Amino acid sequence: MTALPFASFDLTGRVAVVTGASSGLGAGFARTLAAAGATVVAAARRADRLAALAAEVPGLVPVECDVTVPADRDRLVARANEIGGGIDVLVNNAGMPGPPDALGETPEEFDRILDLNLTAGVRLAVEAVRTLPDDRGASIVNISSVVGLVSTAPIGGAGYAASKAAVIGVTRELAGQWGRRGVRVNALVPGWFDTEMTDGLFTNEKSAGWVRRNTMLGRGGQDGEVDGALLFLASDASSYVTGHVLAVDGGWTAR
Ligand SMILES: NC(=O)c1ccc[n+]([C@@H]2O[C@H](COP(=O)([O-])OP(=O)(O)OC[C@H]3O[C@@H](n4cnc5c(N)ncnc54)[C@H](OP(=O)(O)O)[C@@H]3O)[C@@H](O)[C@H]2O)c1
Repeated sequence: MTALPFASFDLTGRVAVVTGASSGLGAGFARTLAAAGATVVAAARRADRLAALAAEVPGLVPVECDVTVPADRDRLVARANEIGGGIDVLVNNAGMPGPPDALGETPEEFDRILDLNLTAGVRLAVEAVRTLPDDRGASIVNISSVVGLVSTAPIGGAGYAASKAAVIGVTRELAGQWGRRGVRVNALVPGWFDTEMTDGLFTNEKSAGWVRRNTMLGRGGQDGEVDGALLFLASDASSYVTGHVLAVDGGWTAR
């Protein structure tokens, strides 16, 4: 009898780094990867939030870190390498939105969004792979957005769209560069989820209605609905998947 392939989702013995783990989707990713057996290194700036997560998730390693600061990134990679001799899973999730109107977005704001949403994740991926033993593969999951695939004006933003579209481009490029050394790189595209970042979107009837009307499933994403896809991409369940862009958006981008 063919065995069900649940074992390929098991992350026992793996080290997983999740950035932006102090709230929202990232906290869910950290819980999910830990539940699948990984030692999770959870990074963000708010140490109190990380400490609360560590109290809830056995074995979770909190690392206070601003991913836009090179020395913090080096410290994060070094801490994760100390635990398992290499990073098996890197989830580049830390991110922020910007002003929705390009006419009101300063060049400095635009650069700050790209620095966090794009550059920090690329630098972390490069450091993780640079320090990975040659005989060891890894899975990198970059969190993009529907805003990186289609216009969502009047909600979205030029800097945010540029950063999230670029995340998809660099995902494919790095997948091409690193495939033969066993490093897979994929992008996850969440639709609309109720988090600190989307504060007000679901409580305001006008914007909540806009989400419902434009989503094939007629609603925003609920807690946990993106975690299965994250686990799939992080684990051996997706061992033949790389350079892929997986939308978990209730059909938003399929319209
Ligand atoms: N919610 C949605 O509908 C949605 C849709 C598509 C894509 N996304 C993407 O999903 C990711 C998570 O967003 P979310 O919705 O979960 O929002 P969130 O709750 O606001 O989470 C953002 C996370 O990023 C962290 N962060 C921000 N700046 C950082 C920095 N300089 N260094 C380290 N960590 C930093 C924050 O932690 P600290 O403040 O503690 O540093 C926080 O944990 C983002 O990349 C976002 O673009 C979200």
